[in-house]
Amino acid sequence: EAAEKGGYEHFMLKEIHDQPKAVRDTFGTHISEDGKTAIFDELNWTADDVAAFNKILIVACGTAYHAGLVTKQYIENLARIPVSVEIASEYRYSNPLTDDKTLCIVISQSGETSDTLAALKEAKRHGAKSLAITNVVGSSISREADDTVYTWAGPEISVASTKAYTTQLVAGLLFAVYLGQLNGKMDPALGEEILCGVKNLPTLIHEIFEVDEDMKAFAKHYGFKSDAFFLGRAIDYAVAMEGALKLKEISYIHAEAYAGGELKHGTLALIEEGVPVIALATQEDVYDKMISNIREVKAREAVVIGIGMKGDEELSKHVDHTIYVPRANKFIAPILAVVPLQLLAYYAAITRGADVDKPRNLAKSVTVE
Ligand code: G6P
Repeated sequence: EAAEKGGYEHFMLKEIHDQPKAVRDTFGTHISEDGKTAIFDELNWTADDVAAFNKILIVACGTAYHAGLVTKQYIENLARIPVSVEIASEYRYSNPLTDDKTLCIVISQSGETSDTLAALKEAKRHGAKSLAITNVVGSSISREADDTVYTWAGPEISVASTKAYTTQLVAGLLFAVYLGQLNGKMDPALGEEILCGVKNLPTLIHEIFEVDEDMKAFAKHYGFKSDAFFLGRAIDYAVAMEGALKLKEISYIHAEAYAGGELKHGTLALIEEGVPVIALATQEDVYDKMISNIREVKAREAVVIGIGMKGDEELSKHVDHTIYVPRANKFIAPILAVVPLQLLAYYAAITRGADVDKPRNLAKSVTVE
């Protein structure tokens, strides 16, 4: 087992560090040599294939569901097709409005999660065309779906998912660019910028590992607090949800994610002196609004760790600690911003002496309902 951990103390830390390679293997053959086009030879869809559906449904569980929330924003922004994201266990019993003009995308690392598989079958029963995004070749979900796009994260052993998530975002983003190219709704220059950003991801993720010591220090400092809050807007809200899930599942700290604008509708009541708030501020369109939210929690004496893009001096004026990720296109930013949150969760679990790779009550793959 020590050999499999490649010199790291835990699988989770190894898998966090595997991400540059996992991401590279996943974009692999999906970007044309000139960097202008997203390619999916395994699909080979035409404009007519895309025109055949008028909505997209994404179903998944856990971390894969969070990847679905980001993918929704990718597809809606780049291909202008309406997307709904459903928790698989809810969708399967929801008497859904799925029909033969629906594309159902299921996202699953293992390809074996029973609720996700059942949701896929339910969508197909209603006539949907289906596409699986999964990490396991020949898995039940890949066999059930009409088409499959693989992530190439390699085996993920730690129960808390890290590299599977980032590779799901890469696959989702490339697929959104592919749809936008086919239906002509995406500005080609934006597509090129995104593809260039994807190719840079391995290098950029490597750069983020520099925050390792900072995250270790925060975890030591705040690791014994009973609650933590994650705030974000737009795509950052989805990343906040993933950050909160990582922290709670392995460190057992109660963690909640909130959309910045929802603070006033409840969570603000829980903010008091010393409560850790992790605020994501990578999305330019809503940046000023995030700063207002940060000021709201600072006014209640929360301790704020801000996650922003390199060069954003403004952020550090409003927060107690700033963590910078490399500056990147807004669709690339979530794939970077999640990495410090993974490290924070990892070190918080270590601080609390928790079993990082095998958290209590949880399983890597949930194959029973
Ligand atoms: C379990 C795992 C999570 C995972 C979820 C969905 O809860 O602990 O890490 O996100 O199942 O798994 P899947 O294999 O379908 O992505």
